[in-house]
Amino acid sequence: MSGAEVTKVFESTAVNTFKLLDKPPVFMRGEGPWLYTDKDEQYLDLVCGSATSNLGHNHPEHIKAIKEVTKTGIFHTGTRLISPYRADLYQQLSEFMETPDISIHLSNSGSESIETAIKITRFITKRQRFISFEGGYHGRTLGALSVTHSEKIKSPFIGKIGDFVTFVPFPRKETEVGFCLEKCSEIFKYYESIEEPIAGLIIEAVQGVSGVWGPWTSFLEGLEDLAKKHGSLFIADEIWSGLGRSGKKFSFNYSKISPDLIVLGKGLSSSTPLSAVIAKGDLLKSWTPGAHTSTFQGNPISCAAACATLKEIKHSSLLEHVNNSIEPCFYKLSKQLKNSGKVKTVRFVGAQCAIELDNSKTSNLVQNIALQQEKMLTYGGGINGECVLILPPLNIDKDLLEKALETLTMIITEELPKHSS
Ligand SMILES: Cc1ncc(COP(=O)(O)O)c(C=O)c1O
Repeated sequence: MSGAEVTKVFESTAVNTFKLLDKPPVFMRGEGPWLYTDKDEQYLDLVCGSATSNLGHNHPEHIKAIKEVTKTGIFHTGTRLISPYRADLYQQLSEFMETPDISIHLSNSGSESIETAIKITRFITKRQRFISFEGGYHGRTLGALSVTHSEKIKSPFIGKIGDFVTFVPFPRKETEVGFCLEKCSEIFKYYESIEEPIAGLIIEAVQGVSGVWGPWTSFLEGLEDLAKKHGSLFIADEIWSGLGRSGKKFSFNYSKISPDLIVLGKGLSSSTPLSAVIAKGDLLKSWTPGAHTSTFQGNPISCAAACATLKEIKHSSLLEHVNNSIEPCFYKLSKQLKNSGKVKTVRFVGAQCAIELDNSKTSNLVQNIALQQEKMLTYGGGINGECVLILPPLNIDKDLLEKALETLTMIITEELPKHSS
C-alpha cells in the first residue's frame, strides 16, 4: 500500500489530510519556500504548515541548532532536571521581550498553552468567567475550544463547552470599534453586578485563520483599559500572528497595550512542537510545582529550534523584509483583485493575506487549482471557510512571491465567475 492508502486506512478522520485531495502530494524534502515530492516535483509553500515553518524549510541555522541537540544523544530528560536548551530559550525569550521581568511556561501545542493561560488566570484571579471574541480561534482541546467562537466546530460534541465564556463582537471595520467596546463594557459590568466578575479576556489582535481581521489600535487599547478597570487579566493569543507574521514582534504591537499573558506557538520553533505562555512579572510564579505540567514540555529539540528562530528574527531583518517586501506584494495583489470583480475583498497584515471569495466552495476550488495545476500550496480560512489564505515563509524572495501572486490572480480571474454581492 502507498503512504496515502495506509494513512487513509488508519488515520483518524478528524485529521485534515484528505480535505482537499484524495491523493495529496507526498513531500520528501524541502528547501526554503520549496517542497519536493517523492517524484521530485517542486511545489511552492505558501502555507508554512499553517503559519508555522516561518523560516522556510531546511534553514541552515535551524538545522544546525537541531543537529547540535541530536549530537548529545539526549532527546528527553523530563522537567525535573535542568536542560541547557530550555535555559537558553528562557534567556532568548527574555532578550526578545527586552525585559528580564517575565515568567514563562512552556508546552507543546497552541491549545495546550491556551489551557495554561486559562488555568493561571483562574488561579490568580480566583474568578472563572472569560470574555472572548466572535470569530476568535484558540484551538480544539476542551478549554481552548471553550474560548473559540465557532458553534459549528463545538456543536458535534455533547455537553457544556465553554459555559464560562461570553463572546463579544469583534470589529469588522474601524467604525465598529466603539460599538464593540461598549458591548464589552456592558458584559464586564453585568457580571460584576451578579458577583461573577470577569477573570480574563482573550483575544487575537489579528484574527488569523478567521480571515485576517484587525488589528484595531483603539479597540485593543480600550479593551486593556476595561480589563484593568475590572481587575481582569488581558491574554493576547499570538500563536498565529506573533513573532513576525504580522510584521511586528507581536500583532498587539500595532497598539500600545502590554498584555498580562502572551500565548505563543506555531512559529515559535518554526517547526517542532512548542508553545509558551509569557507572563508579565512573576504571574507564573505563584502556583505550586506540578500544578500544570506535561511530559514533553520544553523538549530540547524544540527549544533549540526556537532559539535559532528567535535569533533569526532578531538578526536577519526578518521584520523589515515582511514589511518592506512581503506586505507590498499583498497590497499589489489586493489592487489587482479588487478591480477584477471576482473577489469580495482582500485583507492583509504583514505576511498574511486573506482573499475573501463567495463561499467555501469557491475557496476550495481556487486552492485545488493552485495545488494541482500550479503546484502552489495555499490555505483555507475565513469565518465560514470563504477565504484563501496566503502565509509564505517570512524570508520568501519578493520576486518569487510576486510571480506566485500573479499566478493566483490569473486563477481567480480566469476560473471564477463574477462574485455575487
Ligand atoms: C490563534 C490561534 N490560537 C490557537 C491555535 C491552536 O494551536 P494548536 O493547533 O497548536 O493547538 C491556533 C491554531 O491555528 C491559532 O491560530
